[in-house]
Amino acid sequence: MDLCDKKMLYKFTVPTLCLCLLRVKTQSLLSAKNHQSQTKKSVMEQHWNTVYQTKQPTEVSWYEEYPHYSVSLINGFNLTKTAKIIDVGGGDSRLVDALLELGYTDVTVLDISEQAIERAKARLGSRADQVQWVVSDITCFQPNHPFDLWHDRAAFHFLTTEPKINAYISVAQRVILADDFLSVATFSDKGPSKCSGLTVRQYSQEALSQQFTGRFAKLRCEEITHETPFGTQQLFTTCQFQRKTA
Ligand SMILES: C[S@@+](CC[C@H](N)C(=O)[O-])C[C@H]1O[C@@H](n2cnc3c(N)ncnc32)[C@H](O)[C@@H]1O
Repeated sequence: MDLCDKKMLYKFTVPTLCLCLLRVKTQSLLSAKNHQSQTKKSVMEQHWNTVYQTKQPTEVSWYEEYPHYSVSLINGFNLTKTAKIIDVGGGDSRLVDALLELGYTDVTVLDISEQAIERAKARLGSRADQVQWVVSDITCFQPNHPFDLWHDRAAFHFLTTEPKINAYISVAQRVILADDFLSVATFSDKGPSKCSGLTVRQYSQEALSQQFTGRFAKLRCEEITHETPFGTQQLFTTCQFQRKTA
């Protein structure tokens, strides 16, 4: 089944099993297996580009001056500094800045929005060269190497249909090898039902862990509160998993 929106495909010169809408721009070999021939942007890509073109960082609810919770989670995995870490739907989050400051040397930031990636790169200046940048819908991502840690704060919950959710999980299963880690944070079932004008899927701890527990073992889940720049609070569900051996 084609999980990507064929109507949005404009020019696709390489017929593949997954005719995914895909725009990949990366400074590394990550692009090798990706298809760069389509040129028209999807509705979602346009939506997120508009957000990042029209809103200042502190004008979006998900802004964090410093991503304390994610940094503490990532430190808790006790990875080597050369571990391959991907921030999925990283947007222009400052997590990448923090990871570089902590000495991590192999960080990838993936986002559907080129504008978000460009903003993060501009903020980092010359340090942007130390990062692998990928513009892609995560459900169509085909990297050419696995990752030791997959981090997602507030991207997965934008996938609201079973085919999209399954595509995300299947990419994660493919690129996270045995014993490696996945961390996902979504809006809680007691949190907001929309973000950035889009409907999200809310998750209880049980529901989020059920999505991944086929091939992943749950390490922990908890509910956390995010203080938005507008002085309001949002409840998130966050879970961490470890890829099972088989
Ligand atoms: C609420 S923002 C969170 C950004 C960042 N993770 C943070 O914590 O600041 C959601 C991000 O997910 C990205 N996104 C949404 N759907 C996506 C998809 N299917 N593939 C990749 N990125 C996606 C958006 O462009 C946006 O940057």
